[in-house]
Amino acid sequence: MQQQWALITGASAGIGETFAKHLAAKGWSIILVARRADKLNNLQAHISEKYQVICKTLALDLSHNNANQKLFQYCQDHKIHVDMLINNAGYGVPGDFDAVNWRTHQDMLQVMLNSVVELSHLFYPAMKQKQAGFIINVASLAGLTPSTAGHTLYGAAKSFMIKFSHSLHLEAIDSKIHVTALCPGFTYTEFHDVNGTRSMVNKMSKKMWMSADDVVEQGLKAVETNQAVCITGWRNKTIATLTKLLPEKVIRYLMKGSVAKFRKR
Ligand SMILES: NC(=O)c1ccc[n+]([C@@H]2O[C@H](COP(=O)([O-])OP(=O)(O)OC[C@H]3O[C@@H](n4cnc5c(N)ncnc54)[C@H](OP(=O)(O)O)[C@@H]3O)[C@@H](O)[C@H]2O)c1
Repeated sequence: MQQQWALITGASAGIGETFAKHLAAKGWSIILVARRADKLNNLQAHISEKYQVICKTLALDLSHNNANQKLFQYCQDHKIHVDMLINNAGYGVPGDFDAVNWRTHQDMLQVMLNSVVELSHLFYPAMKQKQAGFIINVASLAGLTPSTAGHTLYGAAKSFMIKFSHSLHLEAIDSKIHVTALCPGFTYTEFHDVNGTRSMVNKMSKKMWMSADDVVEQGLKAVETNQAVCITGWRNKTIATLTKLLPEKVIRYLMKGSVAKFRKR
């Protein structure tokens, strides 16, 4: 197989780490990006040894304005053509809108909106020139369901990601670049530990949860077959379908009584 590079943001844990392992197992060379250098280095050692592929790490905080340019420059300097870009880094900020300071909101928008769009904009032209490439934007089921109080910007940011990915998916068809918005529901990762909602979400039925392995398998299959939006698991697909079919009032009522319980205010 010709050497192919996958660049994964948020690769130090959870879904990003799992993408790295699955792609390495398929023979891809990997660039791991996140803030925690120690975690990235451990994963790099594991991947290089177990899968015998090239794995590079770049410890970067994507909330910093110049982080995307640094990442692009790193690839230019190392003559790396990115064949697959996985915009996965993300997190939830609990609390009501006005209770969260502006800097926290700003950082979240930088990581979950600006970085996703800028990295796509930076790496897309070379994919277009090659007439091949894959972009996965890890969004969420929360971007497809009605809003609830608390975590104010999360669902909004994920909706943006889905709309952006869908437009790019349509634009990219002639260039043979596959673009997919991956929309997982509740997934076992560090996500809920980081945002302090683990004890709340643990009360939810285990049936609502998926493993990161399952999410990644479905995401890779979706981008290979060029699906614009991939909702993982039949339960999440059902929720997304009901959201489209039922009157908004009914959905809002159901959301208020169920998912809202797991949103910290
Ligand atoms: N888990 C779920 O239930 C779920 C459901 C739907 C969607 N998602 C989405 O899935 C994606 C991955 O989340 P996950 O569940 O795998 O959570 P996770 O285990 O907490 O992983 C999040 C990753 O993002 C990285 N990250 C966070 N802030 C960053 C920053 N400023 N700069 C660079 N990297 C940063 C973290 O690394 P460092 O801390 O080392 O920087 C980590 O590698 C997110 O976009 C999330 O919104 C998750």
